[in-house]
Amino acid sequence: MTIETITQEIEEAKGDAFLCGLFENEKKLDDLLKRIDKVSSGAVNNFLSKGDFKGKLNETAVLYPLDGVKLDRIILVGLGEKGKFNLDKLRQVSATASRKAKSLKCKNLVTALHSLNIKGANDQDKAQVIVEGMILGTYEMTEYKTMDKESWREFESLAFVEKDKRKLKSLQRGIGFGQDFAWANNLVRDMANHPANVMTPAKMATIASDLAKQYGFKCKVLSLAEIEKLKMNAFLGVNKGSTNEPKFLIMEYLGRKSPKVVLVGKGITFDSGGYSLKSSENMANMKTDMSGAASVIATMAVASKLKFPLNLVGLVPLTENLISGNAQKVGDIVKSHSGKTIEIINTDAEGRLILADALSYAGEYKPDAIVDIATLTGAAKIALGEACCAILGNDNRLKNRIRRASQKSGEKVWELPLWDEYREQIKSDLADVKNSGGRSAGTITAGMFLKEFVGNYPWVHIDIAAVDFEEKGKPYIPKGGTGYGTRLILEFLRDLTGVK
Ligand code: BES
Ligand code: MN
Ligand code: ZN
Repeated sequence: MTIETITQEIEEAKGDAFLCGLFENEKKLDDLLKRIDKVSSGAVNNFLSKGDFKGKLNETAVLYPLDGVKLDRIILVGLGEKGKFNLDKLRQVSATASRKAKSLKCKNLVTALHSLNIKGANDQDKAQVIVEGMILGTYEMTEYKTMDKESWREFESLAFVEKDKRKLKSLQRGIGFGQDFAWANNLVRDMANHPANVMTPAKMATIASDLAKQYGFKCKVLSLAEIEKLKMNAFLGVNKGSTNEPKFLIMEYLGRKSPKVVLVGKGITFDSGGYSLKSSENMANMKTDMSGAASVIATMAVASKLKFPLNLVGLVPLTENLISGNAQKVGDIVKSHSGKTIEIINTDAEGRLILADALSYAGEYKPDAIVDIATLTGAAKIALGEACCAILGNDNRLKNRIRRASQKSGEKVWELPLWDEYREQIKSDLADVKNSGGRSAGTITAGMFLKEFVGNYPWVHIDIAAVDFEEKGKPYIPKGGTGYGTRLILEFLRDLTGVK
């Protein structure tokens, strides 16, 4: 699909649908709608005067102008209350309008920023979120439907009509970021939505290697023997029940010497729980337990593609968590890469085990920041519900940067504390630490466990367990794997490196 700006009057614009918005209880048309109304013999005002359309957030209506314009349809989307409108709502309504266009099998879309005012946002930001909303909202995985394939493939074009030539540069930049960031997000959704019999550790390693070649970053894929050599026994313990070989990805992109950031992603391609077996219900979507890993891979690709000026490292431990005669048992003790010993009191707390080794390995880079992203604890949903992900970490500046990025990406974050008081819960009678702190404060004690392996580097842990899978569908988040956190990390890196 091509997304572009065109310098022409709206009356000249051609397409299957013109996407535009209207605030709740807004009586006055903005300039563009006024002009469409004028040339189409009052079609817009006539429709609105009937009062059917209220302008509620994500409400839609389709109008068919009879003459005057070369636009087959006008897709109106409600923007909700004017005072509550923001960038994320723009992302939402863009998704809603695009989905409507998709359902009508439109191919060529037209839109415009017109007089849309959002506090703190410039034209570039607005173009970016419109593009993101459109690409994210119309995402669908159709690969496994062999019988009733929908005939709709993809939009052919989206054109931003803009007469003012001075605005084109910023619109185009916004379009570019929107396309790349949404692409990364959808790539993560794809990887997460593939079933675990397809999306194995080896498959993810291949995807990462292919992207590395395409976008020019390095990707080393460590085999079982090489992981053993690194003494990553916490990671290897999780793999023991699986007949699929584990992989450890070391991805490196050198755009500049500093800042040096290490990203770590949890890559459990299926989490059965191991001998601490999950119930069928809780196991249902555990193919998406590699979402953090997928986010790191997709982020590496976009950061290299856009040549962000930093030194970026992506570390991804990949394995299944299964059961067999050889699997890790409850009570086993392993010596991790860091040298610390861990008592495995729950084989279902496997994510922190594979992250422990990756995080201590991250220290070897002496990074300026470590960010890990993981579907780590069901307790995140108990604590915060599905409105946000949890962040925990040891450095306020870094946490503030993540918060700022969150405002841009629309992916909400909320901090949970890592106070010393919680250390008590992960003390082991036999080993240095145990891998579960029980039910109380589950997300925090998981964070406390990770902290043991981080060393003295600024670090933020992002727990996406509550948000990585969408059950019902939201305006720009269709059912299934969400890829949550990917754009958050990309916005963080963009802000950190001062890329405007
Ligand atoms: N992958 C799960 C966490 C999860 C749960 C992700 C629900 C998405 C939805 C993780 O490996 C896990 O099993 N965590 C346990 C930890 C417990 C045993 C301390 C959990 O949350 O129950
Ligand atoms: Mn688990
Ligand atoms: Zn897991």
